[in-house]
Amino acid sequence: MKRLSKKCAIYATDDTIFVQIGGTITMKRMLSGIKPTGRLHLGNYIGAISQFKKYQDEYEMFIFIANEHAITVPIEAKDLRKNTKDLVALYLACGLDPSKATIFLQSDVSAHAKLGWVMTCMSYMGELQRMTQYKDKTAKGEAGITAGLFTYPPLMAADILLYDADYVPVGVDQKQHVELTRTLAERFNHRYSDTFKIPEPLTTKVGQKVYSLQDPTKKMSKSASDPKGTIDLLDDPAAARKKIMSAKTDSIGIIQYDPQDQPGLANLLTIQSVLTGEPVESIVSRYEGKGYGELKKEIGQTVFDFLTDLQARYNEILTSGKVDEVLKEGAEKASFIANKKIRKVYKKIGFTI
Ligand code: TRP
Repeated sequence: MKRLSKKCAIYATDDTIFVQIGGTITMKRMLSGIKPTGRLHLGNYIGAISQFKKYQDEYEMFIFIANEHAITVPIEAKDLRKNTKDLVALYLACGLDPSKATIFLQSDVSAHAKLGWVMTCMSYMGELQRMTQYKDKTAKGEAGITAGLFTYPPLMAADILLYDADYVPVGVDQKQHVELTRTLAERFNHRYSDTFKIPEPLTTKVGQKVYSLQDPTKKMSKSASDPKGTIDLLDDPAAARKKIMSAKTDSIGIIQYDPQDQPGLANLLTIQSVLTGEPVESIVSRYEGKGYGELKKEIGQTVFDFLTDLQARYNEILTSGKVDEVLKEGAEKASFIANKKIRKVYKKIGFTI
């Protein structure tokens, strides 16, 4: 059921509209954080941002830039600054609406760091040692692993628990952190008294994941070593079109949606479908008996137009001062909720005398 208005209680399903009279309706809360450590790509757009655009109508959304998580590995101040600004501008350009979703910087809301420490003290060494990111890096014998990388999951738990989030949309790699969040919340609630809502992970639906254009068995990724496999949202649109034209497909030669045997083609169909809203089946039937080249041409044009429009909005937002304005207002809204929670926590653990 979709809520049509935040101010009055009007809801709609596919075939019915409800108007609630009296009583209180609360929207479920959803929270998501993104690390400002690289440029956004088409996979981020299709897997997350385009979903957020729908979620912002159905949920009370909190979206924050996880800059405190970004410094768990060394990053230059100028890069962090630029990534942060770009991310916010791109989110807005993609259609996230600050009047619906609260958009803010983690470091602007001091309650994150405060509850992060409390959650660190609620975590056991063994639990954190089992977290994949830390485990993988240690197993590879990587040098310079910071203590911050080790204690990052309890900070993420704090991010979520401060807002009593019902849902946290995550990829499979982050699911483990939401599980830990649930454990820590239950531990705290049990040790003190009921304080935190137990959040649920919401994993990405099939058909919304985007794969590398060069190796469609791998996810499109921002740290990709194959730039031809990834389309950045800030790529030159003409270069992006070329990447679509040279995307790896297969030698089967029939246009159909078969992610198993034709993963490259399925990936292209997903991209076209999400960007235009046309169902995959409909695209497939339009291309009956036609070749890959023709299909790629259409998708290349779709991507070209999408990026051209997006970047025009992005540039306008960057020069308008909108980013600062949105973040200021977002920090105020988020702080109001987060501070209330941290005051409660400080009382329960005996900090407030
Ligand atoms: N750990 C997440 C990532 O690496 C980012 C993140 C930080 C996050 N805090 C969060 C995501 C809270 C969801 C909720 O992508």
